[in-house]
Amino acid sequence: MLATQNLSFCYQDDTVLHDLTFDFGAHPVTGIVGANGCGKSTLFMNLNGVLRPKNGAVLWQGKAINYSKAGLIEHRQRVTTVFQDPEQQIFYTDIDSDIAFSLRNLGVNEAEIARRVEHAIQLVDAQSFRHKPIQYLSHGQKKRVAIAGALVMEADYLLLDEPTAGLDPSGRQQMIEIIARITAQGKHVVISSHDIDLIYEVCDSVYVMNGGKVVAAGEPGVVFSQPDMLREAGLVQPWLVKLHSELGFPLCKTETQLFNALRVSKDAG
Ligand SMILES: Nc1ncnc2c1ncn2[C@@H]1O[C@H](COP(=O)(O)OP(=O)(O)OP(=O)(O)O)[C@@H](O)[C@H]1O
Ligand SMILES: [Mg+2]
Repeated sequence: MLATQNLSFCYQDDTVLHDLTFDFGAHPVTGIVGANGCGKSTLFMNLNGVLRPKNGAVLWQGKAINYSKAGLIEHRQRVTTVFQDPEQQIFYTDIDSDIAFSLRNLGVNEAEIARRVEHAIQLVDAQSFRHKPIQYLSHGQKKRVAIAGALVMEADYLLLDEPTAGLDPSGRQQMIEIIARITAQGKHVVISSHDIDLIYEVCDSVYVMNGGKVVAAGEPGVVFSQPDMLREAGLVQPWLVKLHSELGFPLCKTETQLFNALRVSKDAG
């Protein structure tokens, strides 16, 4: 189980994460939302062990993670991160080698690598640009390659920092389907995003951050029904929640659910 306990972090003298206690094991998909600069990426880099908390800890199965080289290699097999900027995760010019990079480092056999790479490329729909050099890819295409590079790890936890930023509507929809497939395998996803509608749709639990602190947490329908708190945190309500609170429409998780509910009530009326 991945969690944090009273975690604080500072860059030089500037404390940017304050006393954060998260439990990422309680629900399949946990969302983190907050305005620019509230500390989401810094949190993810702490969770992944790239950065080390000043106080408190990142916990795995209730124990603080081990920051030795071997400890971090082990941790990153359980907790894989897709960083916000795909450039941070690109090591090779050819896509197949790039996606296989972490598995080769771990000494996984080539037949297994080939199987996982093939599967990941299909999941992110990268077949059409698979043979292009990575430096010629668009931002959204690079993002898909970075996501594929994380998926091949088949880790217990997948941390996605702004996974849909730069993706087109079909890429965004594929991301939603990928998350559903991963959680169907009993794995956990932690996702940070400005796409409040995406977070509302895919998350079972959500934390709202403001200035490095958690200002609200819980069931998305409840948390997102607090417009004043969201405004203060620099956010807006998901459109499905707004339709519910402003116009009394049924509170639905997805557009399809809402349209179905409205069709049923129209037919009944
Ligand atoms: N390397 C760094 N050195 C010093 N300060 C930093 C560094 N990286 C980030 N910060 C600061 O830490 C704070 C949190 O930044 P972070 O990137 O974690 O926010 P974020 O929530 O991910 O923002 P965004 O929504 O823009 O991605 C910001 O005030 C930022 O200016
Ligand atoms: Mg960020």
